[in-house]
Amino acid sequence: MSLTPTQLLLRCFLMSLLAYCIRQSTIRISARSIAKVDCAPTASRAMHIQSIPMWEGTGNNYAYLVTDDKSKESVIIDPANPPEVLPVLKEKIASSAIKLSKIINTHHHHDHAGGNSEILKHYKLPIIGGKDCTQVSETPAHKSQFTIGESIKVTALHTPCHTQDSICFYFEDGTDRAVFTGDTLFIGGCGRFFEGNATEMHKALNEVLAALPDDTKVYPGHEYTKGNVRFAKKVLDNEAIRKLDEYSQANKETQGKFTIGDEKQHNVFMRVNDPDIQKLVGKGEPVEVMKMLREMKDRS
Ligand SMILES: *[C@@H]1O[C@H](CO)[C@@H](O)[C@H](O)[C@H]1NC(C)=O
Ligand SMILES: [Zn+2]
Repeated sequence: MSLTPTQLLLRCFLMSLLAYCIRQSTIRISARSIAKVDCAPTASRAMHIQSIPMWEGTGNNYAYLVTDDKSKESVIIDPANPPEVLPVLKEKIASSAIKLSKIINTHHHHDHAGGNSEILKHYKLPIIGGKDCTQVSETPAHKSQFTIGESIKVTALHTPCHTQDSICFYFEDGTDRAVFTGDTLFIGGCGRFFEGNATEMHKALNEVLAALPDDTKVYPGHEYTKGNVRFAKKVLDNEAIRKLDEYSQANKETQGKFTIGDEKQHNVFMRVNDPDIQKLVGKGEPVEVMKMLREMKDRS
């Protein structure tokens, strides 16, 4: 069978159209299966957070060791008291349980950043933290991000007030979320306004931190919950405060047990719009309420 030039051209065109269609659908199918493979494990991942209590009974500080489960890459947050932190790091590094890559500091105070120099004598690590932290190598910009290992995404959130260099670090691993708040937000309380004012703390707590997803777990720099509840009960009576009271009486440690959503219920500094609190302090403007609450707590 012989074909005319026109027939030949038409056949050629149809063949390449067919080939094009096959190629396109294959690409689409493989793109879909890659997306599926990527999504499934993400949802079930969970970063590992180990609390290291320091100066128990006096400062009641916490350092935190956070590990990306897959790669074992780890960061140590506020390792302020090396005699209590170094043994944990040494053991885990020796057994290959972690690969330590960074020191992170929430602010410059000695009971948070004061261990940096000693830790550096044992491990050469970059220090990510506020501008006034001892030997800091990098101060991340507000809302800038970095990753730890394969799956942890960290966002730096500037929250100046307790100190001007205070930074909260928001960690996400799949659907697992945590925020390390230093001395800005405590479970049921907030830090003193050493270098800032009520306007700044209102912004830090009720704009920056309040914007995080409600299921974000809170890891503060100190175990101050009992004292915070004692004050909260003088200011407000609600179900969430009663629950926090019960929990803190029964449990010595409260870090990571409450979320940003919980704080909005039981933390009076995050309830500056609560009519009962406004009535008690005699102010209606959120910043004024914040100022009054802090003054009352400082005197209590
Ligand atoms: C609070 O501090 C900020 C930043 O330093 C400043 O701009 C503001 O004027 C201060 N507000 C008051 C009421 O002092
Ligand atoms: Zn501090």
